[in-house]
This record gives sequence, structure tokens and C-alpha cells, in this order.
Amino acid sequence: MTAAEQTIAPPKVSNKKMLIGGQWVDSVSGKTFESINPATGDTICQIAEGDKADVDLAVKAARKALESKPWVRMTGAKRGRLLYKLADLIDANRAELAALESLDNGKPINDAMNVDIPGTANIYRYFAGWADKNHGKTVPTAGPYMAYTRHEPVGVVGQIIPWNFPAMMMSWKWAPALACGCTIVLKPAEQTPLSALRIAELAQEAGFPDGVVNVVTGFGPTAGAAVAEHMDIDKVAFTGSTAVGQQIMQAAAKSNLKRVTLELGGKSPNVVFADADIEMAATHAFFALFFNMGQCCTAGSRLFVEEPVFDQVMDAIKTRAERQRIGDPFDAKTTQGPQVSEKQMNTILGYIEAGKSDGAICLTGGGRVDRAGYFVQPTVFTDVKDDMKIAQEEIFGPVLSAMKFTDVDDAIRRGNNTKYGLAAAVWTRDINKANKFSAGIKAGTVWVNCYNVFDPAVPFGGFNMSGVGREMGEYALSNYTEVKSVVTALGK
Ligand code: NAI
Ligand code: MG
Repeated sequence: MTAAEQTIAPPKVSNKKMLIGGQWVDSVSGKTFESINPATGDTICQIAEGDKADVDLAVKAARKALESKPWVRMTGAKRGRLLYKLADLIDANRAELAALESLDNGKPINDAMNVDIPGTANIYRYFAGWADKNHGKTVPTAGPYMAYTRHEPVGVVGQIIPWNFPAMMMSWKWAPALACGCTIVLKPAEQTPLSALRIAELAQEAGFPDGVVNVVTGFGPTAGAAVAEHMDIDKVAFTGSTAVGQQIMQAAAKSNLKRVTLELGGKSPNVVFADADIEMAATHAFFALFFNMGQCCTAGSRLFVEEPVFDQVMDAIKTRAERQRIGDPFDAKTTQGPQVSEKQMNTILGYIEAGKSDGAICLTGGGRVDRAGYFVQPTVFTDVKDDMKIAQEEIFGPVLSAMKFTDVDDAIRRGNNTKYGLAAAVWTRDINKANKFSAGIKAGTVWVNCYNVFDPAVPFGGFNMSGVGREMGEYALSNYTEVKSVVTALGK
């Protein structure tokens, strides 16, 4: 089965409470907010609206769990078993979780079924294997001493996640933190809280002790800010916009110097040389940008094509853009759903207008789709100049900016002409060009003759203003580990 060949009905969802200390509770203020279905603009349900007081309660619960016997005494192997169990429960509830993701975020059901949910389960499974392997070393010293290091959990961690891959972004945060023995206060994105709440329920079912995972739903400037500035949170991990990432780091600095990791935006260059397999490169250049309605931090939003094949590549991309099946995310044939919110749609439409008024040529698309919900036409700009707004700023929508380039040095220089540095890709049959580009480009991930290939074992994160730190792979463990050196005198 490759799942979701069939159109299914959107699920009915009841109003939601938050998870604090093992209890499902209303917010202290009693306030709620609406989660919206972006395909229609309708309200899905009411969500408890957490704020500072709720974050305080969640931090107390997480601190208590961190210091109480069931968690302190739990071996790494047992934590690993709980993570495996959670992965299995996510697989067992795949259809339900995928439907929640499509309903709340607007992503096509096939993508949620085949990418988001299985990818989420795999992350938990990968870090389950690390849970009993993250240990210290013995260290030779110059004098009559024995030194060893202990890898201890960093403590109570605050995690703030975005709405583009809600369940998956949660797994990138939860899985390494739990493997390392931390306890968690999670603040999901206000646009997409549903899958996080359901996965928190599955974590209870898996057997994580009360208070080990807590979920406070609410808005960024209130609940999110309360996490970033909390005096009893030891570390904050954030994925989202660069502007908010800067605020989080400031809040961490001004409060208690909590540890900070940030996964931020990008303006990733995707470089196609004339000697590449052009059909392949064009197909992937299309998905590099248009997958998930362009709402990917790694979106290949600056497409550089070598002059001799520019028209050929752009024709192929235009054809694919015009073939997108835009509509109901629950229709199995849909390949493009709505943007996540009206606000995001309007931001994207603003960028499209900027592209036009700055003099780029709109090859296809260029406006809103005439139907209910927040749909934007797949849009391709050519004749884009490197300093135009659409070549410099993250659009986070189905808008591709294409440019010509001359040689590998030109590709590196112009690829690096950005404040970001998240990802990059190069398409060529010439190993020397591929190697030179991979070494010269400033990006946390470089794909050679592929794009958006992720693996739980491969570290991911940004250079420059695309972030601080790496998630996934062995590198992610250091985000949730404090290293303690113990030095013991030998003899007198
Ligand atoms: P955002 O950065 O405002 O939201 C991400 C998360 O941060 C949400 O959970 C939000 O509630 C929280 N947040 C917002 N303000 C906060 C604050 N002051 N303190 C603590 N937490 C806060 O992103 P938004 O407005 O949803 O999207 C704006 C742009 O950000 C997008 O157009 C895109 O360019 C970028 N973005 C990048 C993502 C990535 O994967 N790197 C994901 C989402 C957005
Ligand atoms: Mg929603």
C-alpha cells in the first residue's frame, strides 16, 4: 500500500485542552483560540490558550518529573523502549495523524501519509537507539589523577515549533531530548496544534511518566515568549523565522543564559549546470520549491541555471507548475493545498507584487486562486536580479525565482550572496564542479544531484542567519547533554 489512494472525509475534531503534568487541563485564564482549516477558512475547534501562568505550571511539572524517581532511575535502554513504543503508536495511528495534519495545515493527504507521519515515526526510532549510547569517556591526564566525563541531561527544555511540518518538527525536538533524559515543555505553532496534542496522548499511552512531556498551546508573543524567558528552563530549541529566532536568543541571554539552538529560514540556491541530466534536474527543481506549497525551510527558492539550458529547464518547470492539481487536501489527486493561513497567503501575494514591480518576468501564475481558502497559484519568475526582494527574502510560498549563471565560481559567489545558509544543491555530471561547489557554498546541507533528501542520521542546520546548532544524527545529542568532568586524585 502506498496509502491514501482514496479521497477521505476530513475528521471531526473536538475542542482541545493542554497537557501539563500528565493532566489534560484548560488554560489558567480559561481563554481559548480557534484552529482554522486553511482550505476553507472555517474553524476546526477551540484550543486552550496558554500564557505565562500555564508555562509556569508546565515548567514546574517538567522540573518535578526531571527530579523524580521514575525518570531519574530509568535506564537509557528503558527510555529507548518508550521511544520505540511511541514510534510504533505513531505508525499504528498513521491515518488519523495524517488527517489531522492535512486538516490543520492544509497539506495534501498523500504527503501527510507518505512523508510527514512515517518520517516522524522514523525520527523517534532513530533516537531510541541512541538512548543507551550517549555516555562519557575516561580521559588520560598528566598527573596522578583519573578523569572521566558524564553525559547528563541538560534539564528542563523548552521547545517552540512551526506549522509547516508540525508532527515532524516536534519529533526533531522531542526524540533527542527524551533520548538524553531531559523533560519537555513544548509550544506548538498556533496554526497547527492538533497533531502535537494527539502525539502527546500517544506518549502517555507509550508510558512516559507524568510531566516528562508537557504541551502548552498558545501564541508566540505570549506563551512562546514565556518559554524563552523562563528562569527555570535550561535550554530552548526553536524552529521558525529568523526574526523570532533573534528574539529567542535575546530572551535567553537576558534571563538565565539557557542553551539555545535555532533552525531558521533559508534562501537556498539550487544550481543546474548544462551537463546535468536536465529532465531529472528540472523535475527536482520543481519539487525543491513547490513541495508543501513552498513552505519548506530548505525550499530551493533561488534557481540558478547555466545559460545554454535555461529555456529548456524553465519550460519543463512551467509545464509542471501548470499541471499542479490545486484543491481540497483530502482529495487524493490534489498535489497543492492552501497556504497555512490568510496572513501567510497575503505575505506571499505581497512578494509576487514586489517581483512584478521590480521588473522580474512572471512566466506563470502570479496571483491568488479564485476559490475559498488560502490558495496561491504556482508562480515562476525569470529575469530575476540578485538584489531583488524575491531573490533575497524568504517567501515561504509557491514562488520560484530563476536566474542564469555562467560558471562554478559565479554560482558559488552568487549562491553565497544571502544572509542565510541552510541548504544548497548542484546538478552536474562533472565531479569536479560538484566538489568545488560543495566546498565553496556556505550551507549546512549540500545536495548533489538530489534535493530534500533527509535522514534521521544526517545532521541538519544552518550557516549564517539560518541558525545555530544541528538537529538529527549524533550531533543532535549534544543539544540535550551537559558534559560534566570528574577528576579524582589517585593515592595520596
Ligand atoms: P514564527 O517564527 O513567528 O513562528 C514559529 C513559532 O514561533 C510558532 O510556534 C510561534 O508561535 C512562535 N513564536 C512567534 N513569536 C514568538 C516569540 N516572540 N517568542 C517565542 N515564540 C514565538 O513564524 P510565522 O510568523 O509563523 O512565519 C513567518 C515566516 O517565518 C515564514 O514566512 C517563514 O519565512 C518563516 N518560517 C520558517 C520556518 C522554518 O522551518 N525555518 C517555519 C515557519 C516559518
Ligand atoms: Mg490550522
